Amino acid sequence: MSDPVERHRELVNLIREANHRYYVLNDPTLTDAEYDGLLAELLALEAEHPDLVTPDSPSQRIGAPPGEGFESVRHRASMLSLANATDEDEFAEWHRRCVDGLDGEEPLLVAEPKIDGLAVELVYSDGVLVQASTRGDGTTGEGILHNVRTIRAIPLRLRDGYPLEVIVTGEVFLEKENFLRLNRAQEELGEKVFANPRNAAAGSLRQLDPAITARRPLTFLAYNLVNASALGIAGHRESFGNLERWGLPVNGPLRVVRGVSEAEAFYDELLAGRGELAHEIDGMVVKVDSLAQRERLGTIARSPRWAVAWKFPPERAVTRLKTIAVSVGRTGVLTPVAELEPVRVGGVMVSSASLHNADEIERLGVLEGDWVEIQRAGDVIPEVVEPLTERRDGSEKLFSMPDRCPVCKEKVVKLTDEVAVRCVNLDCPAQVRERLRHFASRGAMDIEGLGAKVVDKLIDEGLVKNPADLYELTPELIEQLEGFAGKWAENLIAAIGESRGASLPRFIIALGIPHVGETTAEALAASFGNIGTLTGATEEELTEIEGVGPTVAAAIGDFFANPRNARLIERLKGYGIDPRREVTRKESGPLDGLTIVLTGSLGRPRDEMTALARDAGAKVTSSVSRKTDLVVAGPGAGSKLAKAGDLGIEVIGEEEFLRRLGEG
Ligand code: IVH
Repeated sequence: MSDPVERHRELVNLIREANHRYYVLNDPTLTDAEYDGLLAELLALEAEHPDLVTPDSPSQRIGAPPGEGFESVRHRASMLSLANATDEDEFAEWHRRCVDGLDGEEPLLVAEPKIDGLAVELVYSDGVLVQASTRGDGTTGEGILHNVRTIRAIPLRLRDGYPLEVIVTGEVFLEKENFLRLNRAQEELGEKVFANPRNAAAGSLRQLDPAITARRPLTFLAYNLVNASALGIAGHRESFGNLERWGLPVNGPLRVVRGVSEAEAFYDELLAGRGELAHEIDGMVVKVDSLAQRERLGTIARSPRWAVAWKFPPERAVTRLKTIAVSVGRTGVLTPVAELEPVRVGGVMVSSASLHNADEIERLGVLEGDWVEIQRAGDVIPEVVEPLTERRDGSEKLFSMPDRCPVCKEKVVKLTDEVAVRCVNLDCPAQVRERLRHFASRGAMDIEGLGAKVVDKLIDEGLVKNPADLYELTPELIEQLEGFAGKWAENLIAAIGESRGASLPRFIIALGIPHVGETTAEALAASFGNIGTLTGATEEELTEIEGVGPTVAAAIGDFFANPRNARLIERLKGYGIDPRREVTRKESGPLDGLTIVLTGSLGRPRDEMTALARDAGAKVTSSVSRKTDLVVAGPGAGSKLAKAGDLGIEVIGEEEFLRRLGEG
């Protein structure tokens, strides 16, 4: 037998080379079986000689899960997003602004497909992949190195002539075929199917266990060398040339274009050819090639002026609407859903589409049994565009919303100021399930491992009826359930335990108060500081809050007035869940408690004036009413000024306003 050290080196090189040929050069030389054979031999050899294992060995793609969930990673440079153009005019407008920004110089442009996946940043230090992160908020993302290492298209080590540091951004995605296969497998396992390849990619990367990510056929293409300037590189094409040389797969086809008409010609080519690409693309990205020109153009509002995404129009398809089913959501709202004859739209199989409510069905004029046109725009959920009335044969049936809940059979109600019809039975099994799913979901208490399937099981087995019951579960109780044994049960209980530390806004979201989403929850948390105070808030106090109108205030009031909810909150408190938050409202600003209206043209931008007023403690509203205390009017003020006069409300000018703020 050959020398193990020698053979190890050989195997590592053969596997690396095979990956490179497959993912970067698109020219595989090994069959899948040969590749698997080499990998198996490598694993066997390393099992026998553990000292041969190095961190960049192809065997190390699947490592141990990180202990503490995802760490946050600060990006070296902000990960920007792209401004959009939806048609030729908007593209021409972007181009004109570029030329203006370059004092009349016409920039050389590069155009490439826009991939529909998930942006990631990779950092190579001395040729070794040392960091990988999601975009997050652009400044800070989630560290996903352990998962990214499982993606074979991403080299763990760079090739030829790489510099000390390489920072690159690109897209992680699934090819269309792999996406369909993954969804079929998910369906068989009774797991949730992904709405589109982008969600599938995101869901796969955000797995704590890299072994799961490794089973997902993710791939990667680079589209930006972030530290190109520091490396003395002049432009985008040169970046791509280098990235390829270092062994990274780059996005393509790349086309050099000058001016609007050349860009448009390439756009048409990509649009016509998108069906032949193995992966989904949702538009064309056009970038200024020269880094010096990019620098001069700069960035506005999180997107660079030097690049634009010219989106493809939504893809449409025609299919039969078999029936309209009705689903019941967390707050009891009945939603009609079009059950469709499965059809492929933009590379994704679509078999249902929400019709939102009865009014929407009436607006569309759609009947059960109709042929309908449906569309999917980018990551947007499929929707019914219109029925093809000329294809009707008389067998179609008019749909009407049921007057009983399809799940619990109780009578439904339609509130006067809502389009929605609701099941108001709080014990309705559909609502119980949705409330629990919502409570555990990522934006709420974020209980890892408590997905839809587990929630269903816990409910079916009678272990939980409401969120508070979760905190009484023990590993022993869960282990009794079929298929839920061992470490998994312990992890779930640990995750439930950890959720006790959820922040106040997340807890407010988790309660599932109708109309209260993330923004409102944040505002409520900042104003009231804890659930006890929020529970006691009057309608007046609630409507003082930015974004809380009478409907939302009433929903909040009703929620806390319901004895069941009060009991739930009490019980949760008993389990140690009673998050607090420092109240951020200023104690006494110069405009404390005043409701003011800004009107007419003011010297400073409207947002800035509004922010100043809010910081000073005022509530800024858009219309003048009896509740208004003060109107700040500039030249050209019209009806609001007149109304203020009618109501006898104090009116001041901008200068006086700033003086009162102590700014003037
Ligand atoms: S360049 C600073 N090129 O689109 C410029 N982005 O809407 C960085 N995307 O977050 C982006 N294909 O995830 C660029 N060929 C491409 C792209 C691309 C897809 C994504 C990327 C970005 C998003 C912006």
